Amino acid sequence: MLSIVRGGRQLTRFIPSLGAAAVQPTTYSSTTSAMSGEKFGIPERYLGSEKSVWVEYIQLALEHNPLNLGQGFPDFAPPEYVTKAIADIAQGDNVLLHQYTRGFGHPRLVNALAKLYSRLIGRQLNPLTEVIVTAGAYEALFATILGHTHPGDEVIVIEPFFDCYVPMVKAGQGVPRFIALKPKKTNGVISSADWVLDPDELASLFNAKTKAIILNTPHNPLGKVFSRSELEMIADLCKKWNVLCVADEVYEWLVYKPNEHIRIATLPGMWERTITIGSAGKTFSVTGWKMGWAYGPAGLIRNLQMVHQNCVYTCSTILQEAVAQGFELELERLGRPESYFTSLAEELLSKRDFMASFLSDVGMVPTIPEGGYFMVADWTALTSKVRLEEETDRNKDYRFTKWMTKNVKLQGIPPSAFYSPEHSHLGEDYVRYCFIKKDENLKKAAEILKKWKESS
Ligand SMILES: Cc1ncc(COP(=O)(O)O)c(C=O)c1O
Repeated sequence: MLSIVRGGRQLTRFIPSLGAAAVQPTTYSSTTSAMSGEKFGIPERYLGSEKSVWVEYIQLALEHNPLNLGQGFPDFAPPEYVTKAIADIAQGDNVLLHQYTRGFGHPRLVNALAKLYSRLIGRQLNPLTEVIVTAGAYEALFATILGHTHPGDEVIVIEPFFDCYVPMVKAGQGVPRFIALKPKKTNGVISSADWVLDPDELASLFNAKTKAIILNTPHNPLGKVFSRSELEMIADLCKKWNVLCVADEVYEWLVYKPNEHIRIATLPGMWERTITIGSAGKTFSVTGWKMGWAYGPAGLIRNLQMVHQNCVYTCSTILQEAVAQGFELELERLGRPESYFTSLAEELLSKRDFMASFLSDVGMVPTIPEGGYFMVADWTALTSKVRLEEETDRNKDYRFTKWMTKNVKLQGIPPSAFYSPEHSHLGEDYVRYCFIKKDENLKKAAEILKKWKESS
């Protein structure tokens, strides 16, 4: 029998497995739990991953109500055909669409994905063995990393990185090895193409223990679209050291002309060692649907299936059906101006340029992204206008973004969150803003900054 006072109520439970020890009544306050201490602590493989910039900055936004250009999601409606598909499916005659579907991917969706990527990569994909549907690109990353990492395996992570990569590598008891993209010196305007990897440093990270490299192109947060020669450099090292390439290509359609997204799986000798990951959230502007996928050779996709079937098992049927219908429509108009994939990138181009100009007007130095929907900007010319000493964080970019959220009411994200602790100083001079926002909200951001600059 165990007595627990919770919220002023005394709960009495009999726990047979605790035997005599359980007979002693124990009273706990509402804030502490019997299940604490070392035995119920976070498993070691998650230690160090407790802090999340998202949890912290969403709370900050709730407290200070800024104009939020921090988190990466559109604040405008997705294309009508996907929302209409959801409504029609929900109310339609096929009641089985409300029930479980095939675990590794709803047949209609894996067929559409296989059709699309077969065209894009010039190889016939088997929808049943070479494609898997996941709960967002996030789960595809998790299944790829956990499905391949043995304890002690090294995984190369390019900084700045999408922040879940490192906790996932650690959860697999792997060892992340870091290399940072660094900006070349330029005269004034800087593009994401100017952020580069040092080839010797990259080569020095590969060794017999290297299991994988995670490549994100187009890149969050820099917007870098890796060039063919950069991809070839990575591919050559993967082949030399027999390494898996995890290609996170969730922003594959968000590329600004004349830049071109090259899928690393299409480079010679890379198909057999690449898992490519995509996201319906990014593709159709429905980040809340949390629907993603991965494709690659059957032998590697099998490893993802193992993780998936023992974790999520199957994803939402309705959402998969709607995404499948969306792809079927887009497949017919791929490459044409009416394609959402083409028109969204065009729409974003003017937003990108507008953001670059209003950030420059107040003295920041933005890196012009070749792809994606984020912009990093060097804010250090504004140092005298912010009271960094009012904030206590170790990294200056955290202090800058918090101070701006509270006092100027504009929220960005501190990029040092996307670096290893050893390299976090490399992100400190920057702030990340998201520009997939309504024009009126971008105009508001421009106004806020202008007014602040004039008044300070
Ligand atoms: C680089 C990158 N990879 C993966 C994801 C996760 O995508 P999803 O929302 O489909 O899980 C994101 C989301 O922001 C991202 O920026």
